[in-house]
Amino acid sequence: MTTTDSLAPVLTIDGPSGSGKGSISKRVAEQLGWHYLDSGALYRALGIAAINNKVSLDNENLLAELVNQVRLEFKKTQRGDWGVYLDGEEIQQQLKTEETGRIASKIAVYPLVRGNLLARQHAFQRLPGLVADGRDMGSVVFPEAKHKVYLTASVEERGNRRYKQLIGKGISANLRDVIRDVEQRDERDKNRLASPLTVPDGAVFIDSSFNTIEEVVQLVLKSLKNK
Ligand code: DC
Repeated sequence: MTTTDSLAPVLTIDGPSGSGKGSISKRVAEQLGWHYLDSGALYRALGIAAINNKVSLDNENLLAELVNQVRLEFKKTQRGDWGVYLDGEEIQQQLKTEETGRIASKIAVYPLVRGNLLARQHAFQRLPGLVADGRDMGSVVFPEAKHKVYLTASVEERGNRRYKQLIGKGISANLRDVIRDVEQRDERDKNRLASPLTVPDGAVFIDSSFNTIEEVVQLVLKSLKNK
């Protein structure tokens, strides 16, 4: 990273799964013309790499080594949108499944894995700026960030959103099971020892339970102007 890059402003957007972070962070980044880091995609891609390479999800050392062995790229696909590539192969479809999310949440508890992923995340800080989406962006990865947002919504609302997404994709789901899954993911993300999900110091707290995506995008952009 160059000196100029470390001057690039960072907006961190942390929050639990289903809070709308992904859609909101992407739109805010587009409107600002800033780079976008989907840190969850790194954990998800590593989970896929672990399965492909038959690395046990219980083996912290091997999983941490895997971080340095895999080739992970975020680049434009032939369709013209952004895709995640693992060792040259596009993994967008697999990346967003419920199963991949569960695996990511499991391997995200390991401090060695988190430590080895730090440099990859810091490399996204480039001019004119970065919107960093995740669980520990404002607390651990970019603690010096000038702008921090914590985005959440009620468990029921987050479960409902996820349920609708699954149904929309033609995947059969049971609302109660989806809500239980959201609760379990919250438990793991908030109670792990390494970089648990917390509201970072100085973060603007936004509960999006009753707002549309566009309304939240405007709230986030407004919080930037207020600084
Ligand atoms: O945001 P997501 O659902 O794509 O994240 C998948 C999992 O990765 C999530 O359950 C916890 C983990 N994660 C993390 O521990 N730290 C981050 N900065 C981002 C994701």
